[in-house]
Amino acid sequence: MSYQVLARKWRPQTFAEVVGQGATAETLKNAISQNRIAHAYLFAGARGVGKTTTARILAKALNCRQGPTVNPCNDCASCREVTSGQSIDVLEIDAASNRGIDEIRELRESVKYRAARDRYKVFIIDEVHMLTTEAFNALLKTLEEPPAHVVFILATTELHKVPGTILSRCQHFNFRAISYREIFERLALIASEEQVRIEERALSAIARASEGSLRDGESLLDQAISLCGQEVKEEQVRDLLGVVPQQLLEEVADAVIDRDSKRVLALVDQVLTSGRNPQQLVRELMGHFRNLLMVKIAGKDPQLVAVPAEDLDRLQTVSAQLSEEDVTRFFQILVATDGELRGSSYPRLHLELGLVRMVQAKRLAALEELLAAFSGDTLPGNPEPPATAGPSRSAPSPPSAIFQDSSPPSPAAATTCLDGILEAVSNESPMVASMLGHAWDATVSGDSLRVRFATGRRGSCELLQAPENLEVIARASAELEGRPLKVTLLVEEDQAPPQAPTPAKVPPPAEVIPPEDQIERQESKRILEDKRVQSFLEVFQVQEKPEVRKLK
Ligand SMILES: Nc1ncnc2c1ncn2[C@@H]1O[C@H](COP(=O)(O)OP(=O)(O)O)[C@@H](O)[C@H]1O
Ligand SMILES: [Mg+2]
Ligand SMILES: [Zn+2]
Repeated sequence: MSYQVLARKWRPQTFAEVVGQGATAETLKNAISQNRIAHAYLFAGARGVGKTTTARILAKALNCRQGPTVNPCNDCASCREVTSGQSIDVLEIDAASNRGIDEIRELRESVKYRAARDRYKVFIIDEVHMLTTEAFNALLKTLEEPPAHVVFILATTELHKVPGTILSRCQHFNFRAISYREIFERLALIASEEQVRIEERALSAIARASEGSLRDGESLLDQAISLCGQEVKEEQVRDLLGVVPQQLLEEVADAVIDRDSKRVLALVDQVLTSGRNPQQLVRELMGHFRNLLMVKIAGKDPQLVAVPAEDLDRLQTVSAQLSEEDVTRFFQILVATDGELRGSSYPRLHLELGLVRMVQAKRLAALEELLAAFSGDTLPGNPEPPATAGPSRSAPSPPSAIFQDSSPPSPAAATTCLDGILEAVSNESPMVASMLGHAWDATVSGDSLRVRFATGRRGSCELLQAPENLEVIARASAELEGRPLKVTLLVEEDQAPPQAPTPAKVPPPAEVIPPEDQIERQESKRILEDKRVQSFLEVFQVQEKPEVRKLK
């Protein structure tokens, strides 16, 4: 028998075997068992997450000789032909190579004829977003008046390119990226069934490199097996993937945390001479700091942190030395460095500069701790102590924060709805929910949802800004409110959670408001006279008269 690649050999043939798409599979199974089949489905999601696989299982479920059934037999002629891609009633069309009007016209013609043998004629149109405008219009006509025996399953990796007119005719399913843990477990199962022994760290490196695509994971495992045979070792896999050894990554991170620039540079040399490139190191450091942040936020949850279970304790020890702000700063520097490296003629220089900047960022954080020693008193002339959100932290915001614009309190009409959203989000992604749990407030007003975080939670807020996380929140809030909402996440400089306004805070209507610049001058004076600022100036021996500026 000829060799079959793992991705094909291990294509799930039943709903139960599909990994990580539970909600979608359940809904489809219910539709089948209740005989409520839609005329058109749209499967959206990244590549290699099970869209085509699920489309084929659905087609079999509809056409199986013993069906329609949620458990197609995989044995009758109808099922077998779908598996081998030779069914005359289940047609797969790749819209990427059949983009035009002619193909869709042809399709419209063939839609008219009944299935040759099976119950349904099923059209699976892959990468549907690639169709031309005319082809979309033609498809739309078919979707508007579908014959009873036809089912369309459209699949796309780029949902935003599918016209709304098509979307509104389809029942829409989002296919999630497969989590690190799910990929890890599926590959472990496949390896053991294939009689391949693979080190846990090697498997972990593959699962991480797959970035949410199970097909990529299976292809990488294929390559590892053809390189190593039935015994797969971590080192060979790391060479294959071109990834920096975990231990070296940890050493670089440790040197940054210890503020040891010299060691950092020596390690860079070691990484580069071992044949890795600067960009790889930067990307992997991002992954490493992401893991540290995850451990910090969510604890040692093996579902959320992309490392082998045995490494979790060590991560936790390291993460305890960092604040969320430290890690956020590191991220920002790594992202900037990644950008600079692209197309740079001096990649090594950029890499070294970036890492030294990280060492300095950690110094800056130490400076903030020093400043914290001066804090504790209220500002002179300030009627109330400045409000701080959340538990007190070692690093306060610099004094200039008092000057920062704070947004007005939310209008009375807005609703606070954090709990509801948290619940809806946690159904879809516990990780997003755990980060969102760090917000102190969420309000809906008009067509937007505003979620606010205290400064100490900047890390959670920034991680949530990733498009896929925003999308989860948007979906949950849309579900909750019954209409789409625009999601905005913001960090508010040291604001207290909203309270009912006390009468004292509301100025009497008759009060005369001094002109803007007068306020600024007063505040300027107040800041310069502040004890903390004074001792700062003293410690750092500032000679000139400092200028007070408003941060935007
Ligand atoms: N959710 C999944 N569960 C199990 N295997 C999967 C899953 N997604 C992808 N695979 C593996 O990857 C291969 C390609 O998946 P496919 O369904 O074609 O992905 P796509 O989402 O790009 O259509 C499958 O044959 C299977 O081996
Ligand atoms: Mg596909
Ligand atoms: Zn069958």
